[in-house]
Amino acid sequence: MKRIGILLSGRGSNFQAIHRAVERGEVQAEIACVISNVPDAGGVAYAREKGLPVHALSSRGVPRAEFDQQVIQILNDAGVELVCLAGYMRLLSKDFIAAFAGRIVNIHPSLLPAFPGLHAQKQAFDAGVKVTGCTVHWVDEGLDTGPVIAQAEVAVQPDDTEDTLSARILEQEHKLYPATIQAILS
Ligand code: GRF
Repeated sequence: MKRIGILLSGRGSNFQAIHRAVERGEVQAEIACVISNVPDAGGVAYAREKGLPVHALSSRGVPRAEFDQQVIQILNDAGVELVCLAGYMRLLSKDFIAAFAGRIVNIHPSLLPAFPGLHAQKQAFDAGVKVTGCTVHWVDEGLDTGPVIAQAEVAVQPDDTEDTLSARILEQEHKLYPATIQAILS
């Protein structure tokens, strides 16, 4: 069984989708650890409820290189082979990228390279595009700049609001991310 690590900062709905896919055998992997830089993140509560190994470390006030060293150590101790960012709201240090070169993936709620960064759904909505979606990509030092692995499109409907559009993108994220992780692992 491949060992994956999840890094998150928030509600963790993508993490939950991955976990459900693992439980159903659709992702053939073990979630070896869950790490949050926000101790009271929803994803931490879910991980605890499911009995998964979870590390809640506040990154507040900790220098990036130092914080990332702690995270690298936890991932290595857990034998993690693939690092999956799931709403992890931090850029990774050079050392982190080097420690897991070519083994870090992220999900982003737009069709990259369009609309990187925060509030991608709002950016797409405000730009008036007809189609947006989500992207799973390899992670490098940039903000949502690594090579694209897989994408799912979502059509913008005339009566969409930012919220309804975001909800339909999230539905696609929950399918695309587990399927792409499985494809990478196999
Ligand atoms: C998702 O929209 C993901 O694409 C982005 O951050 C959000 C995380 O949501 N990177 P959740 O915590 O997985 O619910």
